[in-house]
Formats: sequence, C-alpha cells, structure tokens
Amino acid sequence: MGQGYEKLQRCCESCRNRIPFAPKLALILGSGLGDYAENFPIEGEIPYQEIEGFPVSTVPGHRGRFVFAHIGQVPVVMMQGRVHYYEGYPMDDVVLPIRLMRKMGAEVLFLTNAAGGVNYEFQAGDFMMITDQISSFVPSPLIGPNSEELGPRFPDMSQIYDRDLQEVLRDTAKNLGITLREGTYIQLTGPNFETPHEVKMCRILGADAVGMSTACEAVAANHMGMKICGISCISNLACGMTEQPLSHQEVQEAADRVAPLFRRLVTESIQAMFR
Ligand code: HPA
Repeated sequence: MGQGYEKLQRCCESCRNRIPFAPKLALILGSGLGDYAENFPIEGEIPYQEIEGFPVSTVPGHRGRFVFAHIGQVPVVMMQGRVHYYEGYPMDDVVLPIRLMRKMGAEVLFLTNAAGGVNYEFQAGDFMMITDQISSFVPSPLIGPNSEELGPRFPDMSQIYDRDLQEVLRDTAKNLGITLREGTYIQLTGPNFETPHEVKMCRILGADAVGMSTACEAVAANHMGMKICGISCISNLACGMTEQPLSHQEVQEAADRVAPLFRRLVTESIQAMFR
C-alpha cells in the first residue's frame, strides 16, 4: 500500500465522519458552473481546507468545497472548484479528489470544463461532449507504485468515456434543443494559453478542444473503474484562430453567458442516467 493510498484513506475517514452521504455520481463543476450547486437544497458541504492534506484550489472563480445534494432522485457529490496541475500540486494530489469521491461510493463521474475550440467548425458558446482524450502532455496520475486497491498497473484506456452515457447526453441535448458537438479533448499543462503553433499541433494530433484539466482526472477515474462522461463548454476559439488575444476574463465571461443552458443540460442528463 503506497503513501498516496494512506493519504486517501485518511481523507476518506475525515469525510465519512463529517457526513454520512453515499453519492452515486460525482460531478466536477468547471468554469461557468461555479454556482451550480446553489440550485439545489444542499445537504452537506466540506470545504477542502478542512480535509487534512487535501489540495486547495487557488484559481480565482474556483471555490473549493465538496457539496452534497440530490439532483432529482440522484445523490450527487459536487466538486466546486477543482485542482489544476499548473497550481504546482503533484499529479497524485490533483486526482486525489476523484479517488476520494469514488471511495465515497460514486460510480459515475461527470466531468465539465471550459475549453478552447481547436476544431474550426466550433464557435464560442458551443458544448462539446468528450468522446476521447489526449493526456500525453501531462504526467499520468498513475506514475509511481500502483495501489492494487485502486486498480490495475496497466489499465486499458480504449473507451474512457462510456458509450451508454454518451447516448444519454446525446438524447438529452436533443430533447432540450441544444446542439451538442462531439470530439477529442487534449490537456496541456497551462497556465499559459497556447501559442498559435501549439494549437495547430493539437489540431494535427486530432484534438477538437484544448484545456488544462479533466484528462488526468479521467485517467484516474478509469483506473478505478468509474463510468465517465464529460462536456466541454467551448468558451473561446483557441489561440491563433481569431485575431483577439485570450484572457481568463474572456473565458470566464463566455462560460458564464451559456451557463444557464449548461446547467439544464447537466441536470437533465444526470436524471436521465438513472431513470
Ligand atoms: N486553452 C486552454 N485552456 C482553456 C482555453 C484555451 O483556449 N479556454 C478555456 N480553457
């Protein structure tokens, strides 16, 4: 049993003692969904800083806490504010929250984020369902001694994003009249935005959207056998695709603009998954 696993166990016990809630689904709230949890009667919360040894998000606009609530009939743990690799945490810590939510009982992981569109057919404000990913530009969270309690040493990654969940997202978007793009997400380290040639590289590699999170979380979750789905809010076209320089503020504002639609899509999808 590795050191990382012991830390996970400690975090797990500290959460269990605080709130006896067994989530079925873990939801990561990306930019634009920051205040999503406030739409539901909150049954409990744990600020990250109150969990010993837990990484604390430092990005403006990312509040750091777990929120427990029912979305319809579905017991959900939400991560309000994720931890990014560029904040300087080791990858082990970046995915600790994912592992913790799995340990709490979550079988499904719903990932959301804001991302830059790399595909020329995309527009700012679009939603993209993630069908596959490229995480080769960030270290794997599975590097180091493998904890067999979590999963196998060499896990298969041929279908990270669950086909049945993809079908649910497609149907839900269609019912709501929301256009849902599909594509491959590539994670780069950030925190700087890409150069035009880095974006070109992403496109040549087959990516449709670029961001600074998510893929490492999906690797850790897939290792633990979670069913995974994900949606990117395309907050901007990536660098070099338009004349404008990029700013965090622009990304945040665009994500906020389409947040109401994003909220509906996420809420309806979660309920449909367990119907
Ligand atoms: N690049 C990387 N990450 C992002 C972007 C982008 O253009 N937009 C939102 N997150």
